[in-house]
Amino acid sequence: MRLGRGFGHEDVVIRTGARTGLPVIVAMHSTVLGPATGGTRLWQYPDWKAGLDDALRLSEGMTYKCAVAGLPNGGGKTVVVLPEGRRPTAVEKRDAMLDVGDVVQSLGGRYWTGPDAGTGQEDMVTIASRTGHVFCRPAEHGGSGDPSPYTALGVFCALRSTAERLYGSPDLTGRRMSVVGIGHVGRHLVRLLAEAGARLVMSDIDPTKRALADELGAGFTDPQDALTAEVDILVPCALGGTLTEALVPRLRCSAVVGAANNQLATPEVGGLLQQHGVLWAPDYVVNAGGVVYAVARELHGEDHATAVARVESIGATLADLFMASDAEGVTLVRAAADLAASRLAAGGAARHGGEARRAA
Ligand code: PHE
Repeated sequence: MRLGRGFGHEDVVIRTGARTGLPVIVAMHSTVLGPATGGTRLWQYPDWKAGLDDALRLSEGMTYKCAVAGLPNGGGKTVVVLPEGRRPTAVEKRDAMLDVGDVVQSLGGRYWTGPDAGTGQEDMVTIASRTGHVFCRPAEHGGSGDPSPYTALGVFCALRSTAERLYGSPDLTGRRMSVVGIGHVGRHLVRLLAEAGARLVMSDIDPTKRALADELGAGFTDPQDALTAEVDILVPCALGGTLTEALVPRLRCSAVVGAANNQLATPEVGGLLQQHGVLWAPDYVVNAGGVVYAVARELHGEDHATAVARVESIGATLADLFMASDAEGVTLVRAAADLAASRLAAGGAARHGGEARRAA
């Protein structure tokens, strides 16, 4: 008998890395649709509990991301908690990846990892020396490579669908966009947007990113100004928690559509955006391109063109959600959550049906 709701995650493993002594946290939010899947984040936090919070939030987001994208994967995430104020040396980073590989291997396939903030495709090679449950090694090591261009492509397609919703045409020529965070994904996205003729303002905490803005003929401002810039669409591509209750009343955009995970500082901010007439495309709908591409290539053995077409279908998924929200008279956030919930319910029923058949 099930007794109500409590802790929403299936399982969380917290180990002290044998080599580094660093906390290695693997949060498995759901395996209802398949193995919990999500990248390894190597990042600084005030303490391991802050890292745990991040892992919990990020892994839940991965569950909805995979469900809405129609993937046979659940939601997970690994966080390796670095102490604040010191970057790891190359040797320390390698040791951290070996520690992650050991933890992932011990989970026996219930969780698959990949890159995330602070890690890249080369780190996946190190992880792969300890476990096979890893996506996105470079092609020469048998993987599908850096997922960032595909995450960017999916966001780009979502931006076109958003433009169609707002202005009746997906054409981005002359549309003003503020891209906040020029990291792995942001730098690919701004190129796509510049090619499409968008008028860009860019920002990053790292001032050297100005060079890319100069190259693309885009403006460059500090992140605070970029968040409140007068634009058509705000495109958050940095770390999560950008959209706060304090920021929403100051926004001067029609929509927020970006690559960052966990954009809402609290769930209530979703309602606040709605009240202020700002269209927010749920992050987990928009930023699935990386995991979609990796799963298509590495689990399903699909060719590049087929996998790219799957990434591009994120635009159609968002358009379908706009239609569902109209048809059902619910917010876009609700429509997306309902789609994820229905996929999870169907997966859960299939799983329990299978168990019942085996038991009979
Ligand atoms: N960092 C990616 C994301 O947030 C996760 C990912 C995992 C990408 C596995 C590819 C493969 O979606």
